Amino acid sequence: MDFEPHKQVAVTAAEKGARILQARYGNISRIRKKVAQEIVTEADTESEKEIITVIRHSFPEHEILSEECGLTIGSAEYRWIIDPLDGTVNFAHQVPIFCISIALAFKGDMVVGIVLNPLSGELFSAVKGQGAQLNGLPIQVSSISTVTESLLVTGFAYNVKEIFDPVITRYGNCLKAAQGVRRLGSAALDLCYVACGRFEGFWEQNLKPWDTAAGALIAAEAGGQVATFSRQPYTVDQTEILATNGHIHGEMIELLRINKMTIDD
Ligand code: IPD
Ligand code: CA
Ligand code: CA
Repeated sequence: MDFEPHKQVAVTAAEKGARILQARYGNISRIRKKVAQEIVTEADTESEKEIITVIRHSFPEHEILSEECGLTIGSAEYRWIIDPLDGTVNFAHQVPIFCISIALAFKGDMVVGIVLNPLSGELFSAVKGQGAQLNGLPIQVSSISTVTESLLVTGFAYNVKEIFDPVITRYGNCLKAAQGVRRLGSAALDLCYVACGRFEGFWEQNLKPWDTAAGALIAAEAGGQVATFSRQPYTVDQTEILATNGHIHGEMIELLRINKMTIDD
């Protein structure tokens, strides 16, 4: 199958959404709380509308799963998975780290991934089996082979209070072992930064399909290893993700095993 035409539509859709986010950056009037810390702005919903319009125009029969609209059932074996604004809290505080994430699954397999940062203009993309690119140029994970030399990144889900102990234990273990640990606030960008070698590893618990669908494919296509904390193959329905450059994967699995090691060790 040739998924290049699908990728082009995803890029066009992301660019349309990006124009909304650029215009709305520093200019939002409505911030609605979903639950607790989780918010949604008009930028999320307007970007989503633009993206869905572009995809529907080209592929009216495809299914669409998007963060704010949910699932629209289609008749085809294709499902688009969309986060119209990944990094909403950053966006609302005018921290310039956020993106649009669009992925396409065919018969359950992720085949296209697009992540676009509207402010930096960085466009990460991948088609299954064809490698990953940043602004059209091939990218590769880093070759660093130990956690001591690694820069890691993680994130904290909105329900972090409910899973606080394992999250903090894992965070502490990695903080003690690595060169550094960052928390950017956009899971899709975290995965793409692993893909292009800026970070050696990313882990997070309780992400949603739209947070990881595109970025996980991009990281895997860049030569990375993407799995659960217990080495199960990663799918967007899993509740945890570990994406690394491959070389530090085994060491990371050990650091994330809370029963084996605690921050007091
Ligand atoms: C969030 C971001 C963040 C991650 C949260 C996600 P949103 O997505 O990806 O980095 O830590 O778990 O929910 O709400 O900004 O689209
Ligand atoms: Ca998200
Ligand atoms: Ca979002």
